[in-house]
Amino acid sequence: MEDLDFLKKETFSSEEYKKMVKDFQEKDNPTGWFDKIYQSANGDYTEVFWADLEPSPYLVSWLKEEKINKEKKTAIVIGCGVGDDAEALSSFGFKVTAFDISPTAIDLCKKRFPNSKVNYLVEDLFNYPKNWFENFDIVYECNTIQVLPNQYRKKAREAMSSLITPNGYILVSCRSREENTMEDVIPLPLAKSEMDEFVNLDNLKEISFLAYDDTQEPPVPHYFGIYQK
Ligand SMILES: C[S@@+](CC[C@H](N)C(=O)[O-])C[C@H]1O[C@@H](n2cnc3c(N)ncnc32)[C@H](O)[C@@H]1O
Repeated sequence: MEDLDFLKKETFSSEEYKKMVKDFQEKDNPTGWFDKIYQSANGDYTEVFWADLEPSPYLVSWLKEEKINKEKKTAIVIGCGVGDDAEALSSFGFKVTAFDISPTAIDLCKKRFPNSKVNYLVEDLFNYPKNWFENFDIVYECNTIQVLPNQYRKKAREAMSSLITPNGYILVSCRSREENTMEDVIPLPLAKSEMDEFVNLDNLKEISFLAYDDTQEPPVPHYFGIYQK
């Protein structure tokens, strides 16, 4: 058995984690390592080091304020991890599909929420089922683009935008960085120009855009953008 203790919350080694990701990225296998993160948790979703274990407060506050009729509306969660954001969307009445490329992540979701209405699936954003095209009123993305390198970031953004129904929304939550900085950092936060590509290249309308610092010490800068097709 591979020793994955360096990925566990308690024994996490940022250095070894970044080295592992870099090795996969250099072999042009940018998604080959995700399942290891979830495997390292040994069946305990609370051990997944990047999981907040609660839905994004920005998603929840949008869901509370947004006046759209949620009945029969569909939502999809990209790279759903251990499922908190998917469950939040479901609790607000959306018919939710949530997918992740990691089979272990999806297994954790199903065991964590045995009575969930969410349709949890193992799928790859880069090769999603054809009938998903323009099929979701809400697309929710949190922290997936930032863990991908170079051209895969653009490919991911395009794939996400292609899932939105006409008039539908995409909500994008991520770490942020100043333009032309931190280029070799893992994960690589998004520059404003990358967020703007949802508008400039995917022809979406920016509905709201928030730049904020999170509550970590030192605080980490983030973006939360909402775009409409
Ligand atoms: C940093 S994690 C964020 C997880 C979750 N969204 C959250 O906020 O806790 C990125 C997630 O995206 C998933 N992922 C990465 N590339 C993917 C792809 N091509 N298709 C589907 N999921 C992918 C990973 O397995 C991982 O669960």
